[in-house]
Amino acid sequence: MTQALAPQAISSFAAWRDAQQAEVERALSGWVPAQAPAGLGDAMRYAVLDGGKRLRPLLALATCEAVGGHTAAAMRAACAVELIHAYSLVHDDMPCMDDDVLRRGKPTVHVRFGEAQALLAGDALQALAFELLVPDDGSVEPAMSARLCRMLALAAGAGGMAGGQAIDLASVGVALDQPALELMHRHKTGALLQASVMMGAATARVSAATEARLAEYGACVGLAFQVVDDILDVTADSATLGKTAGKDAAADKPTFVSLMGLASAQTYADRVLDQAHEALRQSGIERSDTLHALADWVGRRGS
Ligand code: IPE
Ligand code: IPE
Ligand code: MG
Ligand code: MG
Ligand code: MG
Repeated sequence: MTQALAPQAISSFAAWRDAQQAEVERALSGWVPAQAPAGLGDAMRYAVLDGGKRLRPLLALATCEAVGGHTAAAMRAACAVELIHAYSLVHDDMPCMDDDVLRRGKPTVHVRFGEAQALLAGDALQALAFELLVPDDGSVEPAMSARLCRMLALAAGAGGMAGGQAIDLASVGVALDQPALELMHRHKTGALLQASVMMGAATARVSAATEARLAEYGACVGLAFQVVDDILDVTADSATLGKTAGKDAAADKPTFVSLMGLASAQTYADRVLDQAHEALRQSGIERSDTLHALADWVGRRGS
């Protein structure tokens, strides 16, 4: 059951989303350096700017708004998560991983700049993410900076995205059962999406109970997001996705679609998103409309 938002609420969400996406673009453009040795800045900016749905930043900013957090810290957190995500995509697309030539409607970074530069652009984007969380202008309290860094490191590292990517690569040709597949998805994609929510929450003081419900919301949105990514790989075309469709089956990757079929995968995603809505309802947060709308968007997105 979605939130069944009224048409007016949907159009106000779309207006909010468009405005925030533009703000994130502006902030990233200011922070990702054009000047870096030997063209590295060009590869970094190509990887990050002018593309992507910016779902992770939107989750961080919406959560900050919902809990009345520190907006400058939230924009840094939003962009930091997007930088980690962009780096993960650059590496995910490389020949040693998924070997993809199309991303966000453009040739992938290694196709455009070469493999070594793509590797380095990913490395540099990861470092920049943490730099953003520790500004030297006093705009974010040191304790908040440290907390945000720790959350992002945990979500990006061996116990999160990188670990999930390792499971993904080790699972080629393996028929994972549902718990194993869920574990992979919670790591490779869910961890960073959940961290987006939790970092937004960490820009304010929230109760342990609210934090726990937001963690549940973020985990559910993250898991459902990757299930829908598996579905879109089968149902959408490359032009709509901005990346090569049909790659999972071609590479013999286990997905929710290969495990249970398209219809059951969508039913599963919807059920997980119901849990996200329920966690939000239990969070005690009054201004949760945008977070509900974001969960709905994850479920019905076309790319
Ligand atoms: C794609 O993420 C990779 C996954 C984690 C499934 P997105 O679908 O969020 O990609 P962009 O940022 O919109 O390009
Ligand atoms: C990628 O998952 C997840 C990360 C980049 C961490 P996929 O390999 O399914 O993502 P797409 O389909 O290439 O965007
Ligand atoms: Mg992959
Ligand atoms: Mg991939
Ligand atoms: Mg995919």
